[in-house]
Amino acid sequence: MQIPRLHPDTIAQVKERADIVDVVSERVVLRKRGKEYVGLCPFHDEKTPSFTVSPGKQMYYCFGCGTGGSAIKFLMEAEKQSFSEVVFDLAQRYQVPMQTLEPEQRQELQRQLSLQEQLYEIVALAASFYQHALRQPQGQQALEYLQSQRRLDEETIQQFQIGYAPATWETLYRYLIEQKGKPVQLVKDAGLILPRKSGDGYYDRFRDRIMIPIHDRLGRVIGFGGRSLGDELPKYLNSPETPLFNKGKTLFALDKAYNAIGDKDQAVVVEGYFDAIALHRVGIQNVVASLGTALSLDQMRQLLRYSESKQIILNFDADKAGTTAAERAIGEIADLAYQGQIQLRVLNLPDGKDADEFLTHTPDGAQQYQQLLQNAPLWLNWQIDQLLIGKDLKQANQFQQVAQKIVKLLYKLEDINQQTYYIDYCAEKLSRGEAQMIPRLIQIFQTQLNKLRQTPIKKDEKSNLNQKNLSISIDLSISEEHSLLEEAEALLLRIYLHRPEYRQTIIETLDTKDLLFSLSPHRFLWQQILDLQAVAQPILSQQPEKLISLLQDRSIQFPEEMVMVEHLFHLNEKQSIEDIIRTPLDIRTATASLEVVMWNKHKRYCLEQWKTLNVATDPNRKDYYSEGIKEAYKRLQELQKMRQANMLDIHKFTPI
Ligand code: UTP
Ligand code: MN
Repeated sequence: MQIPRLHPDTIAQVKERADIVDVVSERVVLRKRGKEYVGLCPFHDEKTPSFTVSPGKQMYYCFGCGTGGSAIKFLMEAEKQSFSEVVFDLAQRYQVPMQTLEPEQRQELQRQLSLQEQLYEIVALAASFYQHALRQPQGQQALEYLQSQRRLDEETIQQFQIGYAPATWETLYRYLIEQKGKPVQLVKDAGLILPRKSGDGYYDRFRDRIMIPIHDRLGRVIGFGGRSLGDELPKYLNSPETPLFNKGKTLFALDKAYNAIGDKDQAVVVEGYFDAIALHRVGIQNVVASLGTALSLDQMRQLLRYSESKQIILNFDADKAGTTAAERAIGEIADLAYQGQIQLRVLNLPDGKDADEFLTHTPDGAQQYQQLLQNAPLWLNWQIDQLLIGKDLKQANQFQQVAQKIVKLLYKLEDINQQTYYIDYCAEKLSRGEAQMIPRLIQIFQTQLNKLRQTPIKKDEKSNLNQKNLSISIDLSISEEHSLLEEAEALLLRIYLHRPEYRQTIIETLDTKDLLFSLSPHRFLWQQILDLQAVAQPILSQQPEKLISLLQDRSIQFPEEMVMVEHLFHLNEKQSIEDIIRTPLDIRTATASLEVVMWNKHKRYCLEQWKTLNVATDPNRKDYYSEGIKEAYKRLQELQKMRQANMLDIHKFTPI
């Protein structure tokens, strides 16, 4: 749809109503810290949170990559949408009345909006139609099913607005279109009727089914799950995707659960509609159900918003499908789980029961269930246990397979204590009760893990949270810093040694910028150079090219140190080609690299200090470091631009 230009009043109102925490927490797991929230930045790869959201200022800012701004800016960056698209979506979401700039566009806008409103109304009408039908003679059998098979009381049936779709073919169709005068096209768009194959007329999608309405978080009906009464297939028929209903983003019963999730600081996800309903019925209300699809990261983030300590328990069936679903969900959120940002647990109920069956068959089921929730294993323990199921560890090949899979699971753990704990846990499991094996197993795991760690992770295996790469990377890891220094310092020294006419320039540049050689062999060489410049000044002013041989003479005195820098004394054929134009650029680029490393170090230092300080007790120092970070970022950005402008990325050309 073409987005009309919105009136400034509308934009202003959207800015006022759209809450930054609300908007950001749909995409980032946020934790409260003092007056602010922090989380892992969605715009760059990071392991410790430096992304902050301030509800007071209604701004976000990342101390890691320097991006920041309002809720609108956040959505523009995260969704790669234009300003108007973002404002339009937010206006709808926060129910801000929209005005357009050009009056002629107003009508079209109103039409679009009213279509959406009408869809909500149609779905709501259908829900009350089904509820009504449940109380009619035709719904008798369905009502009995709910009461006896599902043990639902009147209150629960009402609370979940459960209904019944009559067995006839056109009942809802007639009701909505003939009685209520709703447009056929919209009823079809709402997913309630289907066109006949013959081409004329429509029939009801849901027939002779228990109808379970699905609500959005605000409690509006957006779709249905329809359960067959007997063995007819499919067991559940769900609404298709519609403009209102998006399966991957919706969680069943979230509207009824989010308060309890906040109170209990924990969210439980079950697989089936009736599992969620049964748990709510017995007073366990922090429960939602996935909608028969894999639980998405989006859905989990919605839950994490309400739980301060970020706890999710997946109560999936213990069968193959349930286990796969749990593993998939874990995979979706593994980055956060490995970093300890969330507490993820998996509960499999005894005897392969689902929650509904468990409550029906267990006396005092609610209390038992609570107990089981509390004791549910953490995701990683659960996954390790899964690996061991049905394995005969006495068989060498099976043992090896399991051990390999365990190493794969453990090597992404960031926290060293956790890793030690899990190595012990696995060693214990694999020892099969033979205690003397444990130390050896621990050693094997350690060695394997260290080996794996030394093979760098490929870029595309890294966090997929949000792969929006900044076009210029200004976050250097320590090893990247090291290799940048290595090349830049060597380049400067080579120029100094072999191109006497640039010696003065190099000395002046380093002096004015306060730069030093950081790597110790280079620092040693530089020291020797300065020393010789002083003591051998008369010779060197006459014959500057003598510098190298004078330095080589010192090898007798410092054999080990000189070996490390020997390679700088020689030029190969290609390197000796005179390149007068390039050398000044080389000097600039190399010194810029040294500066990049210096600022990067400074930034890291400020960031570490900043993280340890508390806003409440140390506001000034916190501000001071935050300014430091910003300044470092500014400088880094300028330097990168300069390096790019020089077109001389130091990695891309062969040094002289
Ligand atoms: P299950 O097949 O595990 O059954 O479906 P259940 O919820 O225990 O069903 P009951 O107790 O026999 O009624 C779990 C969920 O998967 C989706 C539904 O959301 C269901 O609640 N599902 C299942 C479908 O969408 N379609 C199906 O045909 C089956
Ligand atoms: Mn069931």
